[in-house]
Amino acid sequence: MSNKKIKIGVVGVGRGKSFMQGASDLINMKLVAICDTWEERLEKVGNEYGVATYTDYERFLEHDMDAVILANYFHEHAPFAIKALEAGKHVMSETSCNATLAEGVALCRAVEKTGLIYRLAENYPHTVFNQEMKRLYMEGEIGEVTYAEGEYNHPMSPYDRLKLSPGRYHWRSWLPSTYYCTHALAPLMYITETIPVKVNGLSIACREVDEMTVRVTDPGSVILCRMDNGSVFRIFGLILPGHSNWYRLHGTRGAMEITRGPGYFGPGQVRVWHEEWDLKPGEVKERTYVPNWPEHGDLAEKAGHGGGDFWTNFHFANAIRSGEQPFLDVYRGVTMSSVGILAWKSALEDGHPFEVPDFREENSRKKYENDNWSPFPKDAGPGQPPPSILGRVEPSEQAIAYAKKTWDEIGYKGE
Ligand SMILES: NC(=O)c1ccc[n+]([C@@H]2O[C@H](COP(=O)([O-])OP(=O)(O)OC[C@H]3O[C@@H](n4cnc5c(N)ncnc54)[C@H](O)[C@@H]3O)[C@@H](O)[C@H]2O)c1
Repeated sequence: MSNKKIKIGVVGVGRGKSFMQGASDLINMKLVAICDTWEERLEKVGNEYGVATYTDYERFLEHDMDAVILANYFHEHAPFAIKALEAGKHVMSETSCNATLAEGVALCRAVEKTGLIYRLAENYPHTVFNQEMKRLYMEGEIGEVTYAEGEYNHPMSPYDRLKLSPGRYHWRSWLPSTYYCTHALAPLMYITETIPVKVNGLSIACREVDEMTVRVTDPGSVILCRMDNGSVFRIFGLILPGHSNWYRLHGTRGAMEITRGPGYFGPGQVRVWHEEWDLKPGEVKERTYVPNWPEHGDLAEKAGHGGGDFWTNFHFANAIRSGEQPFLDVYRGVTMSSVGILAWKSALEDGHPFEVPDFREENSRKKYENDNWSPFPKDAGPGQPPPSILGRVEPSEQAIAYAKKTWDEIGYKGE
């Protein structure tokens, strides 16, 4: 495999386009096929890239390729990943890896059975400042983590949100407030190499934020994770007014964070500080600076999400070539995704703690193999939870009319 070009196929022509762009000669990767059920969009993107197009996933999997990148609906990745693995393809999957705990167990088993590479396509750990904080952490700059905070709170206008979520049952309108937690949590896990073992979740309901959309979920949540070294991480999101993508870590001998301020990730500086009595010779009490990329800065600079979008394909390609599972492997991916699910169970019980299974261990994960608990409309049935702590809420007629008008503009014809 080492010198061979890696042939990839991408599912989903929305977010999927950034992986198509990233499949370049620079990392010896080539896009050969794409798949989407939205035919007009599929053909347009297919023409742009000059590659084979498929509306049927099973047929797409028959295409001659080494790996599949999944950017289809948020809550439908696991069954697609398992099919791709069973068809002999390596998989990189957008977040979330699994929409239920049972899917998480099945996915771990499928990766173990096939021995193929699986990677969560998290890009936020690879921003320049999160890579710098990892370097500092590994050098012992702040000692061992005791407490950390990660925020991914990304408000958008009702119009923009409706454009991104065509249809009353689109996943973005049904996603409980705790589920999209990986952008806040993954960087902290990557920097510290710790993993959550217990969670508490609280959801913030506020219908005013969604007055003019068809979202039936809460706009905000806080998750507390007890990590495997005893530390506590606070995870905040999701669309409450007041944009904030931000990270801070405290350790046994200091702290570090990215500075707050305007911009998608703020001013992009790292701030490190120590107590006077903890200073080692040559260390300063406090410093703030704009870090440099460890490598490939010129390529990363051109990519989206603070450069993070370059590194997803890069690390996936390296994992395939080396045959070694990447850091963001199936266990870390499924654990993170399951934090969102378990925190939702917790939020519906006003913060009751829930244990996170050890997905590496069959003994620990087995009891979840039939846990199909899910708030999504496709899984509706007795015993399934609501997507809001307010229960099952209905959008107003005015919001539905506004939504239909917006979807019309983007050529969406469904309900
Ligand atoms: N990492 C990031 O920065 C980032 C940014 C945006 C989105 N995402 C993630 O990427 C994924 C996709 O996001 P999006 O915004 O493009 O979502 P989307 O819902 O707009 O797009 C999903 C696409 O998948 C297609 N699709 C759905 N079912 C299909 C099927 N059975 N077969 C083939 N195609 C199918 C849809 O037609 C649509 O074009 C989500 O999981 C989202 O969380 C990640």
